[in-house]
Amino acid sequence: MASSRTPLIAGNWKMNGLSADGTALASELASRMKSAKNGGFEMLVCPPFTLISKVGAAIEGSGLQLGGQDCHSQVKGAHTGDTSAAMLADLGCHYVIVGHSERRTDHGERNEQVRAKAAAGHAAGLNVIICIGETEAERDAGKALEVNKSQVAGSLPDGATAANTVIAYEPVWAIGTGRTPTTDEVQEVHAFIRSELAARVGAEADGMRILYGGSMKPGNAAELIALPDVDGGLIGGASLQADDFWAIAQTCL
Ligand code: PGA
Repeated sequence: MASSRTPLIAGNWKMNGLSADGTALASELASRMKSAKNGGFEMLVCPPFTLISKVGAAIEGSGLQLGGQDCHSQVKGAHTGDTSAAMLADLGCHYVIVGHSERRTDHGERNEQVRAKAAAGHAAGLNVIICIGETEAERDAGKALEVNKSQVAGSLPDGATAANTVIAYEPVWAIGTGRTPTTDEVQEVHAFIRSELAARVGAEADGMRILYGGSMKPGNAAELIALPDVDGGLIGGASLQADDFWAIAQTCL
């Protein structure tokens, strides 16, 4: 974590939460944010679409940010079941996650689509969190850097800046498994991603936040977030418990 970049602690609730527990979790986090003296970090929750409105109401005025987990690449039209970035913005979202590995796997999303979604997010005034990361087989084959390089090249839209774009490095094999790369491995990939970003966006890369995601918990967050090129976390399972999510954020202080 470099002092020039404000760490982002982002919770990806995935397909979890009904009205009662979702709003209770959001309210609890909002009250902690309100009573925290000086954040020292930015905190974001990305609930399922069904809860965005309710969570937005529960966190209003707390400083906690709101985001979606995906968006369509088009502004509107005949796309049954999809949600546009403008619709997320209309609900008060400031962020959208695109290209999560579960979207890439479950919905066959490829880099070009992720790039188009990211561009749509920008066009709607949202900050986008672009997810990348290698599979276990790719890492075992010594291809981790190569895969992340091609995902950065393929998924980053024109016009990406430090202010509107965040990268999340999430090794697929670490998501929800309780396994993480070593801190050396994480720093190696993050520094590599920053150099790839620099090749595309120049000096903006210095300010662009690169989050680590994949089994981040209170027990390992401090050592991960302390790495020079790790600027926060994208947290799944542990973001569903207020104490755990808050404890992760506290490691930024
Ligand atoms: P996890 O998920 O923290 O449950 O591993 C992270 C993610 O998929 O964003």
